[in-house]
Formats: sequence, structure tokens, C-alpha cells
Amino acid sequence: MATLPRSIDTLSLSGKRLFLRVDFNVPVKDGVVKDDTRIVEALATIRYAREQGARVILASHLGKAKGAPDLKYTLRPAAEKLALHLGSPVVFLPDCVGAATEASVKALANGDVALLENVRFHPGEEGNDPEFARAMSRLADVYVNDAFGTAHRAHASTCGMAEYYAKDARGVGFLMKKELEALSRVVTDIERPFAAILGGAKILGKIAALEALVEKADVVLIGGGMANHFVAAMGLPTGKSLVEPDGVPIARKVMDRCKERGVSLVLPSDFQVAPSLAAADQAHVVPIDGIPSGEAALDVGPKTLEMFRRFLATARTVFWNGPMGVFETKPFDQGTFGVATLLAACEGFTVVGGGESVEAINAAGLAEKISHVSTGGGASLDFVSGKPLPAVDALL
Ligand code: 3PG
Repeated sequence: MATLPRSIDTLSLSGKRLFLRVDFNVPVKDGVVKDDTRIVEALATIRYAREQGARVILASHLGKAKGAPDLKYTLRPAAEKLALHLGSPVVFLPDCVGAATEASVKALANGDVALLENVRFHPGEEGNDPEFARAMSRLADVYVNDAFGTAHRAHASTCGMAEYYAKDARGVGFLMKKELEALSRVVTDIERPFAAILGGAKILGKIAALEALVEKADVVLIGGGMANHFVAAMGLPTGKSLVEPDGVPIARKVMDRCKERGVSLVLPSDFQVAPSLAAADQAHVVPIDGIPSGEAALDVGPKTLEMFRRFLATARTVFWNGPMGVFETKPFDQGTFGVATLLAACEGFTVVGGGESVEAINAAGLAEKISHVSTGGGASLDFVSGKPLPAVDALL
């Protein structure tokens, strides 16, 4: 795989103030963290840093805060959750820069853990403002980025800060390293046959990933709303199904490219359709050329799953992004949960990247049976698309 930045276990941490950028952008409801996967995934690095005697200063963004304090997006619930996992207190600091923050950080003892308030409460974060980056860098002697989920963002805490640290005082944490190594196995060090499964409601947000995977995979399986564009590209009726007009020529291009490269492009052979999502009780299965004019494709059908099973049974590497249907509503969850089950049974190296497919894997209780469940949606898609990850490049 491509060169990796230094890993945290090659840095000197004892007695040092460590700025550890994590991705604690977790769902919060009524002040309580609803899914702590990202916090749990950061624990290995946090625990290691404490054992080494570092004073650990954690930083993250949460939600879509727009450059000003907004308590809807406070990280305080994440501090509380983290303290439960660590079994020791986490000092919560109400800002991520400034004299008061610097003084609180100075007061930390070796092995203590503090969490700074949401870095997106300052406009300099998303603007990657050098002054803001410098202000945060004053808090620490060593900078480590373990926020894989945010690695595709060139922001002050993910990217700009790195330049204020010497090469032997900056690096990646264990989660970032694990993510990059696992995802490299679907980009460079691929064991074949390699099957890529792509779904999700839309095609336009995933063009780069789709085009990149067509160049790498032996089999490309398509489901979800993305499949509707291929149905339209074949000149078949799509009824009331979601179709982005600009997506149809893209589907056509992908079909041509698969033919040229000899890649098997596997489209659904049947769909679960209904007049609308609200009319789920009228769901029924139709073949690919039978979507009725007043109905929408809302999931792939059973024959499709059987066909997918045959391809996945022999795959040595599988990458999956995007649900096969509107899996929040029964019975349109069958395609997505069906694919989750096929992946769990696959003996090859399996990677699930992307928010909704990860949700489905977790809801199905199958995460343990997947080789790698990525904590990054946009970041994993960008990496698989061959795009640079600014947060990683800044550390090289
Ligand atoms: C994510 O949840 O994908 C990351 O935390 C990045 O969040 P963002 O899309 O708000 O930058």
C-alpha cells in the first residue's frame, strides 16, 4: 500500500501534551449518545496514549455547527460516554482555543484525558484558517489524527494544524491506520475475484466511486435507487421510481465501460414495487422490465438476492456501500438485510463502507462477521475512488 504517516506508537509521548483529533461526530438525542461506535473505535489509541503517560487532549466536530457556538452540537454527551468507557473522568473544556483552554490543559497530569468543545464552533475550522490552526497547536507538543471519518476534510484540526509539528511529533492513531490498511485491500492489494456492491438512493453523489470500482472490480453488483438509472439506461420503464435524469447517461457509460473491460455488471433481475412508501402493504415483486407506471421500485427482489449470492459465494474480496432499498420500511428491508447476510457468510475479505450500510450491518447484528466495518462514509468512498485524503497527506 501507499506510504503511511508515522503511527502513534513510533512517537514519544511520555509527559507530552498530545492533541488527538478523533471523529466523535456521533448521533445524539436529548443529550445522550445514541450510537457510540466511533467512540469505542477510538479507545485503543486513547488508552495507549494514557499508558504512555501523555496528557491527552481530544478534539472533534459534531454535526453541522456553522462556525458559532450552538449547544445542539455540544460534545459534552460524548465526554460523558467516553468517561464510562474509560472508567475514569474526562475533563470537558468549553472551548477549543484561548487562554482559559490553554490554562486548563496545562493543569492536566500525565495520563489525564480532556475533550475540547466542538471545533466547528469556530469559523476557522472549516475555513482551515492558519491562525485558528496555530491557536489549537499551542495546546499540545504532539499531534495525532485518528479521525478517519473526517480524513476527507481539509479543515484546521484535521489538516492545517499538522504543519505546526515536526515530522517526529505528528502521526496517525491506530484507528486511522487500521482503516487505511483495510481499505487499501480494495484499492491496491486486491485478492481476486473482487466484487463491489453499490446501492443507495442516488447515483450522482457516487459517480467517482462507481467509475473507480468499475476499473478495479471483477464483478459490480448494483441495487438501491442507483439501479433505477441502469433500468432507464436500458430503455425500460421505471414508473414512479427515483431517477435523477443526469444519472442515466452515467449509467450508460458504466455499462459500456464494463463491456470494454469484461467486468460482470450485475443488475437486479427483479424489484419489490409499491404505489408509494406509505402503501407498503401493497408491495409486490416484478421483473426488471415490469415496473408498473404508477409504482416505484423500493427494494431488490428475491431472484436478485439469489443471483447476488452466487457471485458473492466465490468472491475473495467484497466492498459494499449503500443500501439495496428503503430499508427503514418493511418489507423493503429484505434486500439490504439479505446482502448483509450474504456478506457475513462470505469467506473472502469483506469491507462495509458508508453510513447506511454500516447501520444495516449493525441492525442485523452481523458486524462481527465482517472483516472491516469502516467508521467513515464520505472518507471511505473518497479513498476507494482514489481521491487524496487531505488529513493523511498533511501528515506525510
Ligand atoms: C462523517 O460523519 O461522515 C464525518 O464525521 C464527516 O462529517 P461532515 O460530513 O460533517 O464533514
